[in-house]
Amino acid sequence: MKKFYVTTPIYYPNDIPHIGHAYTTIAADILTRWHRLMGEEVFFLTGTDEHGKKIETAAVQNNKEPKEFVDSLIPKFKEAWEKLNIKYDRFIRTTEDAHKEMVRYMYEQSWEKGDIYKGFYEGLYCTGCEAYYQEKELSEGCCPIHKTKVEHLKEESYFFKLSAYRDRLLEHFEKKKDFVRPESRYNEILYRIKEGLNDFSISRNSFKWGIELPFDKEHIAYVWFDALTNYLSGVDYLAAKEQKYWPADLHLVGKDIIWFHSVIWPAMLMSAGIPLPKKIFAHGWWTFNKEKISKSRGKVINVDELISIAGVDAARYFLFAETTFGQDGDFSTEALLRRRDSDLANELGNLVSRALTMCEKYCAGKTPLVSNVDTEALVIKQAALNTVKKTGKCMEEIDFSGALNTVWLFIKLLNQYIEKTAPWTLAKNNEKEKLEAVIYTVLEGIRLVAVLLSPFIPETAEKIMNQLGQDLKAAHLFIETAKWGCLQPGTFVKKGAILFPKDPKIKDG
Ligand code: MSP
Repeated sequence: MKKFYVTTPIYYPNDIPHIGHAYTTIAADILTRWHRLMGEEVFFLTGTDEHGKKIETAAVQNNKEPKEFVDSLIPKFKEAWEKLNIKYDRFIRTTEDAHKEMVRYMYEQSWEKGDIYKGFYEGLYCTGCEAYYQEKELSEGCCPIHKTKVEHLKEESYFFKLSAYRDRLLEHFEKKKDFVRPESRYNEILYRIKEGLNDFSISRNSFKWGIELPFDKEHIAYVWFDALTNYLSGVDYLAAKEQKYWPADLHLVGKDIIWFHSVIWPAMLMSAGIPLPKKIFAHGWWTFNKEKISKSRGKVINVDELISIAGVDAARYFLFAETTFGQDGDFSTEALLRRRDSDLANELGNLVSRALTMCEKYCAGKTPLVSNVDTEALVIKQAALNTVKKTGKCMEEIDFSGALNTVWLFIKLLNQYIEKTAPWTLAKNNEKEKLEAVIYTVLEGIRLVAVLLSPFIPETAEKIMNQLGQDLKAAHLFIETAKWGCLQPGTFVKKGAILFPKDPKIKDG
């Protein structure tokens, strides 16, 4: 059985999760559901990055010990993922013992290999990013991401010989042209590697909240060296007799942390003699009403707020329909409601409601038997099969909006087909055979739509399947369900409540 191991970044639990965290985690959930549909054995890892100065400082501000502080926030992350219908396989915390052991192992491997040396670090640091910066990377003297003042650090530190891995990294990038996606990010990283790589500091000794180095108890692990290792401890790399999931098939990350994942992490793995992940995909950032999401300026949208606007499925749909995965997007309540009303309520919701009403009215609520298929119905069937194929291709390329667009073209086609064939006229004229063929075609089309959309809007997909008298869970294997003609004539349908009731304010205004 083919396996698929997908990860999200592990989040700093210094506050409750917001739209940025939700974005990557929903993306991983969508891919998990998709690959399960394809019959693959999937492992989906997420979790929290709990060490480092940033967390220590937040704990102090909250009058708590760091561990007590992070313990208080972890349930918020787990609750948020549950509310968003995200089904991960493991939630890893970097304060777990097995993870600490894995981190020490990574340090030992590089130490023995001669890739770690002691030195003195003097330079700039942004605690928000937990990253070292060079003067030329700053924007007006501030961190380019957080726009806050960077700190001048001066401390004894261990260094990792990243410079020694330049050629091997280049070779890997040359060989694996899709190692980093989108392509623009691949080119950008390749260019930066070619420019040259600097060794970097991998330990701190001016504070205590971290994992002690195995070869020097005075130093704690640099939080990124610690955090990246979660992808191995998350699948019990050390304990496993044989590696079922490693190497990871996909690390999903935001564009701000692509360097750590596509350069530092591969170099760490090369140093430890561990195979590299297969692909790293960097998505863009969301702004909120065209402004940068920022806690200090009150421009944050947390998970509860996101859900409260139009429900879970509308939020999940919006995030992946509104912008191409890989590019930036702008979030606003109005834009979300607009998509809910036009795409979900008007196009998908109405299609389902009309089809079910017609089936109840003209076919006594039972899926009709098709005795005569005409050209128009055949066109729909062919379009359905093309939709299945094209959606699959988009999903392989991690092109979520492409997949949704493809399904929506088919939804529009089904609506047009109803208009064109006018079942109400066929009923009036007693053209029973033709009427039943139209209704079967529409119902079967809707069934396929529900299967294809189930990774994106799982709750709605299940409701649609139930209305069609189908069990999404029982027949969830794509190879069994993504073909034409699965609806059994005689199956009772049952019209349900409106799928996406519109917001009265928006409808009137
Ligand atoms: N702890 C590190 C990751 C370690 S992974 C080995 C970290 N954590 S974080 O909590 O700061 O951020 C995690 C993710 O949230 C990043 O991928 C980042 O890109 C994403 N986002 C934060 N704000 C965002 C938006 N406004 N929009 C989209 N994603 C954003 O970094």
